[in-house]
Amino acid sequence: MHHTTVRDLFERMASRGTGAYGLSDVNQVEHAIQSAALASGLGLSDEMIIAALFHDIGHLFSEEDVDLASLGVDDHHEDSSADVLLPLFGPMVSEPVRLHVAAKRYLCSVENDYFSKLSTDSRVSLELQGGLMLTDEVRAFEEKPFWQEGVQLRRIDDQAKVPGLDVPELVSYLAMAEALSSRKRG
Ligand SMILES: [Fe+2]
Repeated sequence: MHHTTVRDLFERMASRGTGAYGLSDVNQVEHAIQSAALASGLGLSDEMIIAALFHDIGHLFSEEDVDLASLGVDDHHEDSSADVLLPLFGPMVSEPVRLHVAAKRYLCSVENDYFSKLSTDSRVSLELQGGLMLTDEVRAFEEKPFWQEGVQLRRIDDQAKVPGLDVPELVSYLAMAEALSSRKRG
């Protein structure tokens, strides 16, 4: 991936984020700012708030605004998102993002009622992403750094799909993101 700046992320989100978020009734920007607002409301760190805001940014770096899951394609957006975020913000932002899809598989395996609460598109993509985790995969997941943050981010992701919710706008996170990025680089 070519060098990307913090401002690039905000501009890309603002310009390309108005497309639908999968099969849900919110667009990418709405999903992102609802995720960030949930992280903020839980009193989480700036790293987790920015992780929540940009956890799906990889979708907006792909060429097409199509619903890949409905076409039977897994775009591996957790890796493309994390790879964009790592050089800008460090692993406390990027690694929970990298794990947020595995965290869905994890939660489906360890929580009885988790699958039934998932949105339709999250259920459709589950199989493409590898389906349920087996016992040894569950154990391996729990040994990864940032796995709990990945699970926390996943729960935020699941809730951030409410049409018409009034939350702080995208640009309100710019100063936080710039400050976090310069701390990581400083
Ligand atoms: Fe998401």
